[in-house]
Amino acid sequence: MLKTAIKAAKEAGDVITKSMDNKKIIDYKSADNLLTETDLKAEKKILSIIKEKFPNHSFYTEEGLAKKTVSEHLWVIDPLDGTTNFFHSFPHFSISIAHLFKGKMDLGVIFDPVRKELFHAERGKGASLNNKKIVVSNTTKLTDALLISGFAYERGEVMKKNLKNIEKFFNEEINGIRRTGSAALDLCWVACGRVDGFWEFGLKPWDIAAGSLIVTEAGGNITGMKGEKYHLMKVDIIASNSKIHDQMVKVLR
Ligand code: IPD
Ligand code: CA
Ligand code: CA
Repeated sequence: MLKTAIKAAKEAGDVITKSMDNKKIIDYKSADNLLTETDLKAEKKILSIIKEKFPNHSFYTEEGLAKKTVSEHLWVIDPLDGTTNFFHSFPHFSISIAHLFKGKMDLGVIFDPVRKELFHAERGKGASLNNKKIVVSNTTKLTDALLISGFAYERGEVMKKNLKNIEKFFNEEINGIRRTGSAALDLCWVACGRVDGFWEFGLKPWDIAAGSLIVTEAGGNITGMKGEKYHLMKVDIIASNSKIHDQMVKVLR
């Protein structure tokens, strides 16, 4: 399964990078949430590769191109995480593929086709970047932390709340906050120690699924905003190197 997921992520990566010079908006999911032809092409590519090997598995994907079926095997897929970046030629986006067996996440693959960085994790086997083991950072104090957040497409109350949170973190005198535009990669960057923590409100299951396993297998923690256990349908999340997790919860709860 890992091999198939990696093949699908890499081939979708080719589809995406090849369409960088020919982007077409085909719809607006909301005023600020674009759908491009490439999102659909990438999803089709991934589905065709996985379905060829596992024709009886089920799929839960952002663009919803697979027929609804019931199986113990569920693939949760974001074919292009960071569509806004992609559309503006801001070179930071990814493909995210997770697999669950009987409701339990056992595989996560995220590919950054610009940097050619492939992150993956299998339950109980650790996490890696281009096949080299990765672990979270050693930062223990929020005052030494570099954090990432994201802004939900909802620009009303959720946005207001998050701007307040940014102010609260700066009041804790943290090192800095970044916003990159691909939640899946944000999680990977927590996993490999490039940042110490990440939080975002209003994500979707496919933004988080694969990254959640990559973070925990690298020694990190992922929970809801009050520190409660993460599950597939949880969409407001904190992910961290574990060591600063409680400090982040204290700011965000
Ligand atoms: C988006 C990205 C972004 C996050 C948004 C997501 P999409 O995914 O992950 O970083 O802030 O909430 O929806 O729409 O590009 O697949
Ligand atoms: Ca996404
Ligand atoms: Ca997407």
